[in-house]
Amino acid sequence: MTTPWLTVIGIGEDGPDGLSAVARALIDAAEVLVGGARHLDMVPASAAQRLEWLSPFAANRDLLAAHEGRRVVVLASGDPMWFGVGVTLARWFTPAAMTVLPHPGAFSLAAARLTWPLQDCLCLTAHGRPVEALALHLVPGRRLLVLSEDGRTPEGVADLLRRLGWGASLLTVLEHLGGPREHIRRAVADQWQESCADLNLVAVECVAAPGTRPLSTLGGLPDEAFINDGQMTKREIRAVTLSALAPLPGELLWDVGAGCGTVAIEWMRAGGRAIALEPRPDRCDLIARNAAALGVPGLDIRRATAPGGLPESEPDALSPDAIFLGGGLSRPGVLEHCWTALRPGGRLVANAVTAEGEAALFAFHTLHGGGMTRLAVSRLKPVGGFHSWHPAMPVTQYLGIKP
Ligand SMILES: C[S@@+](CC[C@H](N)C(=O)[O-])C[C@H]1O[C@@H](n2cnc3c(N)ncnc32)[C@H](O)[C@@H]1O
Repeated sequence: MTTPWLTVIGIGEDGPDGLSAVARALIDAAEVLVGGARHLDMVPASAAQRLEWLSPFAANRDLLAAHEGRRVVVLASGDPMWFGVGVTLARWFTPAAMTVLPHPGAFSLAAARLTWPLQDCLCLTAHGRPVEALALHLVPGRRLLVLSEDGRTPEGVADLLRRLGWGASLLTVLEHLGGPREHIRRAVADQWQESCADLNLVAVECVAAPGTRPLSTLGGLPDEAFINDGQMTKREIRAVTLSALAPLPGELLWDVGAGCGTVAIEWMRAGGRAIALEPRPDRCDLIARNAAALGVPGLDIRRATAPGGLPESEPDALSPDAIFLGGGLSRPGVLEHCWTALRPGGRLVANAVTAEGEAALFAFHTLHGGGMTRLAVSRLKPVGGFHSWHPAMPVTQYLGIKP
């Protein structure tokens, strides 16, 4: 049975004065104190050995492990388990080794100042993550609380909002919450010009400008939401395709022959992770631009041709939960390679528009079972003073669930 040796104490801008008697006693009794310079400077000198965080952060695992069994106290900001250092430490050490003492975190303090019900806010971070990821969460009337990387983050948020047609959103930047330097700034994103302290949190009340079309996270975004060169799975077929792929949060998709990335991007908007494989560099560029504009900058884009270029030996890329083949099915080995890579219970979805592609799907279906669907979509278009139905090429869709 491990005795807890690693104590993580959340501390606010008011330093030890704001801590409980228990937290202060644990700090006084520490043999090793670990933290950033800002936090270490807050606590009075003692006999404890002081260690500043190493960079890169991964190096701190060995640093801490070397002191296992001693009274080690880590100082963290606010609530250590909410986008804090406690999250990383909990990946490295067992629950039995750790004691965590939370302090009101930046989200709680911001909600208190703004009198926003915290349960109705979306709590996000731009700390160590691209600000573009916020695009996914823009919903009229929604309140976002966003942790900042530094003093430039508020301008980054304002700029993103302006570019996406949400410049009418109201920004409130709360600096040094809970301490003597606390300061609050407010302006709409369109007029944002403030310079801010590094320690800040950005609160956003989302307002779409007239003409801005808010985007749903349900699969089947309008075709115009994507920059494209015509090579894309159109809205109606895409909606059915995503329904067949059935994304769950955290699951991994391979989008093989990703075109401008529509399916991988919509999969990620539903909470998954994705690798987009596309041989043409111009299309890889389209995928990257669409991923950034649609709030999924973490899409892993690879310039590669199937089946040769499919991930083979990277543990993180292996055993996808779903694979989508949007074309190129008749190339020998592609379907079989994907089926082998898929994890048991994973979904293989393939769309064909050519007779050759359809034949490959039918042959595969004969061997492995699964279901096939024929999708025919017509769109109403004006002709002269009238309207008529314009049929798109029918799509044959295969769905196989690996035993
Ligand atoms: C790594 S996160 C830590 C969050 C921490 N776990 C918490 O609950 O407050 C660091 C970010 O939190 C925000 N933050 C933490 N304390 C803050 C404060 N007192 N005032 C404003 N923002 C703060 C800032 O956005 C900062 O960049």
